[in-house]
Amino acid sequence: MPWCATRCTHAGRVVVSRRDSVPSPSSALPSHGLRAAPDGRVTRTPPRLGRVTLITHALEDRYARVATDLRVSLTDRCNLRCSYCMPAEGLDWLPGDDVLTDDEVVRLVGIGVRHLGIREVRFTGGEPLVRRGLVDIVRRSKEFDPTVDLSLTTNALGLARTAHALREAGLDRVNVSLDTVRPETFLEITRRDRLHDVIAGLEAARDAGMVPVKINAVLLRGVNDGQAAELLHWAIGHDYELRFIEQMPLDAQHGWSREAMVTAEEIFEHLERDFALTPASEPRGSAPAEKFLVDGGPATVGVIASVTRPFCGDCDRVRLTADGQVRNCLFAREESDLRTALRSGASDDELAVRWVAAMRGKRAGHGIDDPSFLQPDRPMSAIGG
Ligand SMILES: C[S@@+](CC[C@H](N)C(=O)[O-])C[C@H]1O[C@@H](n2cnc3c(N)ncnc32)[C@H](O)[C@@H]1O
Ligand code: SF4
Repeated sequence: MPWCATRCTHAGRVVVSRRDSVPSPSSALPSHGLRAAPDGRVTRTPPRLGRVTLITHALEDRYARVATDLRVSLTDRCNLRCSYCMPAEGLDWLPGDDVLTDDEVVRLVGIGVRHLGIREVRFTGGEPLVRRGLVDIVRRSKEFDPTVDLSLTTNALGLARTAHALREAGLDRVNVSLDTVRPETFLEITRRDRLHDVIAGLEAARDAGMVPVKINAVLLRGVNDGQAAELLHWAIGHDYELRFIEQMPLDAQHGWSREAMVTAEEIFEHLERDFALTPASEPRGSAPAEKFLVDGGPATVGVIASVTRPFCGDCDRVRLTADGQVRNCLFAREESDLRTALRSGASDDELAVRWVAAMRGKRAGHGIDDPSFLQPDRPMSAIGG
């Protein structure tokens, strides 16, 4: 327990991160804490004294999980049309005025990093590379705390042009979605003939030093499931770290079915025809991927079995949608509106308190197997994967 917590009188847990020399507890913390009055107003502001940074461990849910990993969706728009994600004609995109501006995104990221203990920020979408202000958002987000890990989940279209600028702005890593290395299968899945752009984007990310470059792949029965080993051979040959993700009921068309999805067990069966897989020794922690050494290593492959082997008990994630809604889970059916409060003049502390409250309702698990499970109204592309 941090030393200040033993002295706190308020309900929330507070820790002090020590960047440098730390004043004595009594001089550093005469009083502190974000506190919501019964009417919802914030009654006290956390002090920032010298080089001591106060972080409320407030993004804690009822099951004692603490969110430190923020996924920020920068847009719901996309330039591909992956069949497991959205229909060929696309979706009704969010009206432009509803989408947070660059300044609003940066402000909320800052609240997360400076007040709420966020240690990782992943920008996603839709396709985050279509957001014009991306490089600037990355740069300004990094300025809050250079030790916070910044990453991007992307389809890599256009990454060849921007990888170096993103790296220079402070982006640490990218995860690129790539389900096949066959052009005809790529066209079938994404409905666009852009495989060459993705491959160029991957190379640019590696050249820019954003390593390890990870690849996320979704397998679809009868489409690319027979190509799992081929994709792994290719990824290893190009020094990319491949992870397979089980398809989840988050597509806009509501076309997912348990019977049709390719399970982790089936993924192992496909891979083990070509490779020997052994569990990697490094602790998994809150990482969604189970990691395996390929043929004894050092190459690895990950399997994210969100459906058949849920890892909700270790979840450390919280999401912010492009229109400024906090979602405490991918599968949440409720959202908390930060945008309206933000645009009505709420202070950082007030926004932080709202964010804290949003975590309280986080459910123990996604409940996909529960008979009462309902797919969220928003698809993955609008939530931010
Ligand atoms: C929604 S996308 C957004 C970022 C970017 N457009 C991309 O494709 O990487 C994020 C990730 O979600 C994955 N994804 C999309 N729909 C999915 C689904 N129904 N089940 C599992 N993963 C899905 C994609 O493959 C991608 O890796
Ligand atoms: S998975 Fe990513 S790239 Fe594919 S349609 Fe969805 S948002 Fe676009």
